[in-house]
Amino acid sequence: MNILITGGAGFIASHIADANIRRRNKVFILDNLSSGDKGNINPRAKFYKKDIYKDNLEKIFRDNKIDVINHHAAQIDLRKSQTEPIFDARINIEGSLNLLKLAVKYKVRKVVFASSGGAVYGEQEYFPADEKHKTEPLSPYGISKLTVEKYLEFFRSYYGIKYVCLRYSNVFGPRQSMKGEAGVVSVFYKKILAGKNPVINGDGNQTRDYVFVDDVVKANLLAQSYRGSGIFNICTGRETSVNQLFRLINKNLNNRAEEVHGSGIYGEQVRSVLSNKLAGKKLLWKPETGIKAGIIKTGDWFKKYF
Ligand SMILES: NC(=O)c1ccc[n+]([C@@H]2O[C@H](COP(=O)([O-])OP(=O)(O)OC[C@H]3O[C@@H](n4cnc5c(N)ncnc54)[C@H](O)[C@@H]3O)[C@@H](O)[C@H]2O)c1
Repeated sequence: MNILITGGAGFIASHIADANIRRRNKVFILDNLSSGDKGNINPRAKFYKKDIYKDNLEKIFRDNKIDVINHHAAQIDLRKSQTEPIFDARINIEGSLNLLKLAVKYKVRKVVFASSGGAVYGEQEYFPADEKHKTEPLSPYGISKLTVEKYLEFFRSYYGIKYVCLRYSNVFGPRQSMKGEAGVVSVFYKKILAGKNPVINGDGNQTRDYVFVDDVVKANLLAQSYRGSGIFNICTGRETSVNQLFRLINKNLNNRAEEVHGSGIYGEQVRSVLSNKLAGKKLLWKPETGIKAGIIKTGDWFKKYF
């Protein structure tokens, strides 16, 4: 299978590229390196340094028969989306539409899209949230993710392109930068390894659903070969508070940091946890790495590189 992976120099999609190459799929990576790292790019992939919004991407599709687009390139900074919503919409909505137009023209079979469960549901009414939970995003980033999901459904019904939207909870693991939705894991590791005390926002009782990147990669491989279209939460269904996370990371670094709390962030979601039942039933996916094992594996990487 020939697969175009956008954002393949970044955290999640570079792991997806590696796994596809191990499966002997032919991988093309499209990334403008705005937050990604050239060092993450698998040397066996063909790399196009291009912007999904600004550049003409036609040549990639003309020169290579693309079967599947795995779309992870995005403006991922939730706070930046609040202050620069037009920039966010250009990359996350218009950039995605650029790809979808070419997908139609060059008869791409399927699009896998990295959506965000943390961002599209908004303040949860029940826990864990399944895919039927109402979607009321609280940020332009969440609005843009939900908008692309809706465009994908339009492109399916109008042009027959299949799609799978994976609504991730908070993904963590090796190669993660400090910016993304589960950036807190890398913030804590980098600060503590630098001999500093990371500051926990507010009382630290706010919870998130942390899913390990290897499990997310497996969900992507299953989504690529899934016969139908659909939207699935990719998550663990388990809540971990920021305090628990700090303590796990600090323990893995021999408790060398102090627990320090700062002021809370206005409007920050208190609880976020998603249900993975549908992904289990339809994609036959389930997470295999628990939070403790994932934190240790992530720590091994940070200890080596920082
Ligand atoms: N990390 C999480 O917890 C999480 C949760 C939900 C959804 N997601 C989504 O998963 C995807 C990957 O996130 P990540 O955490 O790996 O982030 P990342 O920043 O590591 O990866 C994003 C990649 O996209 C590239 N990129 C950005 N703008 C681009 C553009 N205009 N043209 C081409 N390339 C561009 C960046 O250089 C980077 O390599 C994103 O779509 C993100 O919204 C991530």
